Amino acid sequence: MELTQPAEERHVTERIRTDVAHNARVWNHWLGGKDNYAVDRAVGDQVTGMYPSIGEVARADRAFLGRVVRHLGGELGVRQFLDIGTGLPTVENTHEVAQRIAPETRIVYVDNDPIVLAHARALLTSSPEGATEYIDADAHDPERIIRSVEPTLDLKRPVAVMMLGILNFIMDTNEARSIVRQLMDAVPSGSYLVLTHPTLELGGEGNAAAMRFWNENATPPITARSGEEFTSFLEGLEILEPGIVSCSRWRVDPATGGEAAQVAQFGAVGRKP
Ligand SMILES: C[S@@+](CC[C@H](N)C(=O)[O-])C[C@H]1O[C@@H](n2cnc3c(N)ncnc32)[C@H](O)[C@@H]1O
Repeated sequence: MELTQPAEERHVTERIRTDVAHNARVWNHWLGGKDNYAVDRAVGDQVTGMYPSIGEVARADRAFLGRVVRHLGGELGVRQFLDIGTGLPTVENTHEVAQRIAPETRIVYVDNDPIVLAHARALLTSSPEGATEYIDADAHDPERIIRSVEPTLDLKRPVAVMMLGILNFIMDTNEARSIVRQLMDAVPSGSYLVLTHPTLELGGEGNAAAMRFWNENATPPITARSGEEFTSFLEGLEILEPGIVSCSRWRVDPATGGEAAQVAQFGAVGRKP
């Protein structure tokens, strides 16, 4: 059979490993998506067996993303987003939420998983007034990310740097802090840092055992962090109300009763003074 796939796309699909579970694909499985392989579903279901609230964590994290982008775009006038550790396209991606509020909003997505690159077209559906860009890059190299975001983003104007569920894959806390610092140094006053991160301090039965299982059976390795470590990522920033909370409880819409069950995932937003 003749190969009709363009060389660039072949190169991407060759990078996709189907013999080991990958976080972007397992996360997609937990969110009810179809862009995953048998190995991802097997490991994902094992984790769910050990840590039953993981699906709730994934949904709470996505709902937090929606609330934050609506708040930043709608109430605080942010028109540029840098979403690092994007994950596979799903419903209500950052640009869809942001451009519904302000079509001129510009978004750069960054992930290092080839499956996300293979599906990136779904993230590049910008409104004509705005722009979306996808960068295949590693968070361990923030300098490269900073060099690549222009001209889509103007680094002289405020940017919301979103790092949802990704610093937990930077195993060394000092390195994670340094990555955050380099990114926030590159953006001006009035920019924001948006974080979520798993923790063992907010309940979540089976979380520690599930993380050990993950690190033996999947990639990349993950770590939980304490409230103190999480707070250190936001050093020098003004933390928006309601502070550092379970991401499910960050600015819950009063129309939904204003109540939400806690999940074992910190969420917070900091503003660069
Ligand atoms: C838990 S998912 C979170 C997805 C999305 N941010 C959300 O909150 O729904 C983490 C994402 O980070 C990506 N990731 C992990 N390590 C990374 C790294 N070193 N550089 C870039 N992306 C990374 C994974 O491929 C995955 O898509």
